[in-house]
Amino acid sequence: MKIYSNPLIFQGTSSLEQFKQFIVKGNYSSVIVLVDETTEKYCLPILKEYLGAHIVYSIASGEENKTISSCIDVWEKLSDANIDRKAVIVNLGGGVICDIGGFIASTYKRGIDFINIPTTLLAMCDACLGGKSAVNLQGLKNQVGVFNNPKSIIIYTNFLDTLPEKQFISGFSEIIKHALIGNVRFFNELYNGFDLRSDIENLIARSIKIKTRIVNLDANEKGVRKSLNFGHSIGHALESFFLMDHPQSPIYHGEAIAAGIIAESWISMKKKYLNADELDKIGILILRLFPMIKIKKSDFAKIIENVNKDKKNEHNINLFTLLNGIGRFRINETVRKEEIIQSLEYYILLKKE
Ligand SMILES: NC(=O)c1ccc[n+]([C@@H]2O[C@H](COP(=O)([O-])OP(=O)(O)OC[C@H]3O[C@@H](n4cnc5c(N)ncnc54)[C@H](O)[C@@H]3O)[C@@H](O)[C@H]2O)c1
Repeated sequence: MKIYSNPLIFQGTSSLEQFKQFIVKGNYSSVIVLVDETTEKYCLPILKEYLGAHIVYSIASGEENKTISSCIDVWEKLSDANIDRKAVIVNLGGGVICDIGGFIASTYKRGIDFINIPTTLLAMCDACLGGKSAVNLQGLKNQVGVFNNPKSIIIYTNFLDTLPEKQFISGFSEIIKHALIGNVRFFNELYNGFDLRSDIENLIARSIKIKTRIVNLDANEKGVRKSLNFGHSIGHALESFFLMDHPQSPIYHGEAIAAGIIAESWISMKKKYLNADELDKIGILILRLFPMIKIKKSDFAKIIENVNKDKKNEHNINLFTLLNGIGRFRINETVRKEEIIQSLEYYILLKKE
């Protein structure tokens, strides 16, 4: 079992036992477990063995439900049940449940404790940690939220056994992003091949290590933490585009970020921060794992509109994080509309090997 101290992260087969002790020591007035219908079915029965008295609240699954109205529903339930400030919310689910639950807990009665128990790969290696939680507004990503850390994070990878393969793969985009901004050796190891299932414990631990190191340097994202946004300016714009304009064929967060990583790597190359060989390797690794996202040139205008509304922009200037060679990054890079268009053109012409 691995333990990181800030915040307290337990990983491994005995992590649920640690969770049990944490809850007992916390002497909480109530334990609320937040789930969606899928984690209620597959993950809650496992967690129940480690829980005493508790209350379960469920939110409909999916990015389209990461909204303020889902929060209102839970806030009202908490209030109707007279839940006080000594309660704890246990977020049992993917990134959507961690984000909504973190936001609900951070704002209910000005803040109660919460614990993240991620159940998707993406949430285990990224969304569960860093203390950011948010909901979407009018289809735009994470427009309303807070910085606030969970009291603890429990990484129990057996939860991944029930995760559909496509969702599992989705998590690799954030692992690749962590390698790209933080550790060239890690990137090369990923590029040279790994076993998707048997290496997973190690890949999650290394991913957490990179993110934790960066977040601990800059919790409120004034500087280096912006590196974690690499791939997300265009990635979030693509995710919002499908959420708002093609709700019948949504794409996963990780798939959008994977495409965003390729496009933003191209912009890094165009600005001469990355060489063509590095760009090729990034594209090859991503397309080995991910399907191409189907976008047309006629979609570019709407995607760019979404990039322009990204919360990382300042004074109406698009500010991106770009790569500065593999393993290093540059923050606050001004990116022009033409560069975004060209990067999307590069993306749509790529072919899987
Ligand atoms: N706060 C952050 O720092 C941060 C970082 C990265 C991503 N995010 C957010 O995370 C979200 C994406 O997270 P996600 O990819 O986990 O999506 P998700 O939470 O929607 O989960 C994906 C699907 O898997 C199902 N599921 C979850 N665990 C399961 C299990 N063990 N077995 C079977 N099915 C299971 C869920 O019900 C859901 O349908 C996005 O909203 C993104 O913005 C947040």
